[in-house]
Amino acid sequence: MAKYVVLLGSPGAGKGTQADILTKETGLAHISTGGLFREHIAQKTELGILAQSLMDKGEFVPDDLTIAMVKERISRADCEQGVILDGFPRNPVQADATKLMLNAMGSSVSVVPYIIVPEDVLIQRLSGRWTCRNSGHVYHTMFSPPEKEGICDLCGAELYQRVDDTVETVKKRLRIYMERTSPLIDYYRKQGKLVEIEGDQPIDSVTKDLLATLKK
Ligand code: AP5
Repeated sequence: MAKYVVLLGSPGAGKGTQADILTKETGLAHISTGGLFREHIAQKTELGILAQSLMDKGEFVPDDLTIAMVKERISRADCEQGVILDGFPRNPVQADATKLMLNAMGSSVSVVPYIIVPEDVLIQRLSGRWTCRNSGHVYHTMFSPPEKEGICDLCGAELYQRVDDTVETVKKRLRIYMERTSPLIDYYRKQGKLVEIEGDQPIDSVTKDLLATLKK
């Protein structure tokens, strides 16, 4: 039976980092709404132009566009075994849409690992993050530096710092997360699907805890 995992956590909690590793370990597909929007931005699509103006300010892309994008992505063949959802759902409207979407596929959300990291650590992580322009792989100047500064270990492409990773925009993203996304903690806890994961530990320790949760 296909597995649908919702990775929950603040900006900088390590959702993208862990989803990348879990995809390799489990064979589940990785759907990152932030990553999909960044692909649209790179291709200068209509959605990309709208998304960029909102993302640069740390604001959400409208629900209808986001939901439609995920619906199309999740219907592709590589999602048949299941999916790790990273950055989606991000509010109760998107969570209800996820339920409907998966119900229509004869399935439901399997488990919701909630990665918990203190705010001061999140700010430190995001201000030191570098992302590959080509693969989207993320690095950190201190915690997971690339072998060669500014170059992706995986594909040799250039690394860049996200416009929304300035301290001011990060604080705004954290505020929006508290207001709009944190209600999902109770939403999934009430359904018995939430599993708390200690996120303030080395990357491989977080992976170990997540893999144990996914195996249950
Ligand atoms: P998105 O790209 O989803 O950003 P986010 O949710 O804010 O999450 P981040 O990517 O910032 O953090 P992460 O948890 O993935 O951390 P990472 O693994 O990179 O969304 C961006 C924007 O798109 C939104 O603001 C919004 O505008 C729009 N958007 C996206 N989804 C949307 C939706 N559903 N609806 C509406 N709008 C939407 O790690 C961070 C850093 O820490 C890295 O440098 C990493 O190397 C390091 N690190 C990770 N784990 C560890 C560890 N254990 N120890 C030390 N360092 C670590």
